Amino acid sequence: VQLVQGLQSLAGHLTDPANLAQILTTTALGISLILILTQISQRINRDKNAPPEVPYWIPYLGSAIQFSLNPLKFFEENRKKYGDVFTYTMVGRKFTVCLGTEGNNFVFNAKLADVSAEESYSPLTTPVFGKGVVYDCPNHMLMEQKRFVKWGMSNDAFRAYVPEIEEETKDYFKRWNNKAGARGDLFVAMGELIIKTASRTLMGPEIRALMDDSVAQLYHDLDDGFQPINMFFEWLPLPSYFRRDKAHRKMRDIFRQVIEERRANNITDKTDMLQSLMNQTYKNGTAFTDVDACHLMIALLMAGQHTSSTTATWALMYLAERPNLVKELLDEQRDVLGSIDAPLSFDQMKNMPLLDNVIRETLRLNPPIILVLRKVIRSVAFPGTEYIIPKGHYLAASPIGTQIDEKFYKNATSFEPHRWDNVVEEDSGETVDYGFGKIAGGGARNPSLPFGAGRHRCIGESFAYVQLKTIISTFIRMYDISLTEKGFPKPDFTKMFVQPQLPVQVDYKPRK
Ligand code: HEM
Repeated sequence: VQLVQGLQSLAGHLTDPANLAQILTTTALGISLILILTQISQRINRDKNAPPEVPYWIPYLGSAIQFSLNPLKFFEENRKKYGDVFTYTMVGRKFTVCLGTEGNNFVFNAKLADVSAEESYSPLTTPVFGKGVVYDCPNHMLMEQKRFVKWGMSNDAFRAYVPEIEEETKDYFKRWNNKAGARGDLFVAMGELIIKTASRTLMGPEIRALMDDSVAQLYHDLDDGFQPINMFFEWLPLPSYFRRDKAHRKMRDIFRQVIEERRANNITDKTDMLQSLMNQTYKNGTAFTDVDACHLMIALLMAGQHTSSTTATWALMYLAERPNLVKELLDEQRDVLGSIDAPLSFDQMKNMPLLDNVIRETLRLNPPIILVLRKVIRSVAFPGTEYIIPKGHYLAASPIGTQIDEKFYKNATSFEPHRWDNVVEEDSGETVDYGFGKIAGGGARNPSLPFGAGRHRCIGESFAYVQLKTIISTFIRMYDISLTEKGFPKPDFTKMFVQPQLPVQVDYKPRK
């Protein structure tokens, strides 16, 4: 009774107009004081040698809202004010973005003693992938894990994959039921097809067989735990976090069971990645265990899914906009294969430069990863400036900046695959091996870097190209697509991997 009376008296007190005015005034003064103190502290705490900082009004959140609405606009506007290197605050962390080709080179080729990818990505990746792999182990072990994976991405494996991907694509698109005047959702279709083709080829037939039900759901739960919020908070008592952790355990157990069955039945003739990861040992003799293999398989599933499915979606949207380009692609197939009814093959697709260039140009304009991070573990100087980037900051590179810069590409924002027709990559002959095979040295100054550069460079590029080329070629043989009245989609930057704003529909009719 006393509590109720107390609450009633408090309610009466708060709703009395005289008190309400006083409360509002005090709150307004409090907020103003916080805003002013936030501004003052940014000036007082300034380190003279640190890069310029983007000012902000809301403590802790900093520039999070402006950044997440449109990171590219945020970078461009601040670049005009502060130059290529500047710092912004977001969710209590300081990010120093390094733009331009020098900025890309600085971040991608930063020394191991100065920066750490593990410390940036692990809160996001370790709960999803599992322990002991990728960013939950020392860098030299990741380099060896990448070598194991590359070993499983041989040309022989790709030769086997192309007919499988072609078959999956044909089967999948039968559901578009060949009706003229129909409308289909490309984003949904590419999401489903990429996971089906990756599981049929890399993951293994056992996983593919489970893909229509249990594994697909587990993938969704893992994916829900692979969002920007997970980067900032490794664990929160939210349903998505519980589902993520449960899905991780189940997925690991599925891979483990497949491994155990293969071992028990002495199965050794598979061309997939799982088979190759089942038989690896680190150079120092440390075992790469079956659990490590399961965790790395989950990592590969996640690394290749959104990256490739968004790329396939954007590429097909560009083709929906340009029927002439589709015609050219079909002509290219006829020239190389004799007919567009002939089966696709890995070796013959190497002679289809326009197909390659459609993907290359899509990745120039719409790379799925627009921000690459490293945590500074030892203060580091940015060459050619007096800036010292303090320990504790996150270095950020955003290579899309150079990819859409007029300085490097004429009509930079326009989709023109033919711009690559006569481009021969400059090869200095210089190579570097971080432990997963030789890659071109100094490549981080190339203005187009959708697969990154340096020790953390993508190892899935060739697989992604094989998968995308086969899917796109097969799809355009089956359907003629065009944009709907909604036109070409805009990018959605709120996702971990930038994707087109949903829904992404096209009008289609079966190709005669
Ligand atoms: C790393 C992009 C497909 C596996 C990266 C990085 C980028 C990237 C930008 C560098 C990240 C960093 O420096 O922090 C892409 C794009 C893809 C794609 C655009 C498709 C269009 C794949 C596929 C796989 C894969 C299919 C595997 C099957 C990896 C792995 C790393 C990586 C293992 C290395 C991470 C590290 O060393 O830190 N990818 N990727 N990616 N990617 Fe990909």
